Amino acid sequence: MLNGRRVLLIVGGGIAAYKTPELVRQIRKAGGHVRVILTKAGAEFVTPLTLASLTGEKVHDALFSLTDEIEMGHIELSRAADLVVVAPATADLMAKAANGLANDLASTTLLATDKPVLMAPAMNVRMWQHAATQRNLATLRADGINFIGPDEGEMACGEYGPGRMAEPAAIVAAIEAHFARQNAPKPLAGKHVLITAGPTHEPIDPVRYIANRSSGKQGYALAEAARDAGARVTLVSGPVTLAPPQGACTIRVETAREMNEAVEQALPADLAIFAAAVADWRVADESREKRKKDGNAIPPLQLTENPDILARVSRHASKRPRLVVGFAAETEKVLEHAKAKFARKGCDLLVANDVSPASGVMGGDRNRVHLVSPDGVESLPEMSKNEVATALIARFAEVLARRG
Ligand code: CTP
Repeated sequence: MLNGRRVLLIVGGGIAAYKTPELVRQIRKAGGHVRVILTKAGAEFVTPLTLASLTGEKVHDALFSLTDEIEMGHIELSRAADLVVVAPATADLMAKAANGLANDLASTTLLATDKPVLMAPAMNVRMWQHAATQRNLATLRADGINFIGPDEGEMACGEYGPGRMAEPAAIVAAIEAHFARQNAPKPLAGKHVLITAGPTHEPIDPVRYIANRSSGKQGYALAEAARDAGARVTLVSGPVTLAPPQGACTIRVETAREMNEAVEQALPADLAIFAAAVADWRVADESREKRKKDGNAIPPLQLTENPDILARVSRHASKRPRLVVGFAAETEKVLEHAKAKFARKGCDLLVANDVSPASGVMGGDRNRVHLVSPDGVESLPEMSKNEVATALIARFAEVLARRG
């Protein structure tokens, strides 16, 4: 429930603007208060009268309006909200916001606001996929702007793909999740949490490498959950296609040795979580040039062991984090292997999961984990990777608090 939270809704000029009256209705139904800025292009798709009737408020549309400035200037408008929502966020609005342009009320407000911003993009699929829009998206994300959607599906223009604005119910859920996060207890406030995530790539030669199927999703979800719990987060990530979590310091690495080095640099930490699927071996005789077929024997790959980052940090002489958590990715005898790994690695807790192809965990969005501790094994129900992350971070925070 939104309990009187004030949402400033900026309506851009796209066909999806026809969904904004429903969005306003649902925000109000959830207990929120809505004020609307309607762009000139937005007014082509939805009338100020409709939005004014549904919000019970004057709709703002002009930057240079004397009455508006007297009643509520654009700076005040941008600050008097708890959250700014841009829906639909058109390619034009995203481009303006990414570049700090301020030539109308909507873009000026986005530049002047000191409040969190949530954008719900909507545009033609080619416009969404265009390098310029993707560049602007990356810039806006790095600036701390949150996004919901776009959804994939058939578009008003007849094309198919990502570009549809998220449904009003999903936008309201994202607004509620935003406020829930803001209100959530911060059990890791003042703590530094170090997390490894994703696979590592071990080069064979300049064009080939050994890899694994880890997507990094669980590790990234843990980074977000730790951040939401108030921690300062350092995420050391192998090569993945995920966007870096906002508010975390993300260090990208490629190989196990680079990950090991980055982890060492990031210490000290209060809590270290090793969720990465680190390659156990690398190629001993990495070739400087591309290996060529010589028409004779198939060349053997000589492997050598990588540093075990988890085991090393668990036994760190001077900078051992107070709580060290390992992961165990197993394809059979999950608990048996996990318990043996727990004993071997020297960590305080171990999260075991089944990554056999039938489980769909590698690359998927859901996970079922078992928490191995000196007290025994606690099995959590199957949940989304985000829910697993929230549950695990809550438990880690409890253990950390008990350790003083
Ligand atoms: N790990 C690590 N460095 C390595 C290998 C593993 O930090 N070189 C960490 C992983 O991040 C994970 C835990 O150790 O937290 C267990 O990883 P996993 O691959 O399941 O186990 P291994 O130690 O590789 O054992 P095995 O291959 O025998 O299953």
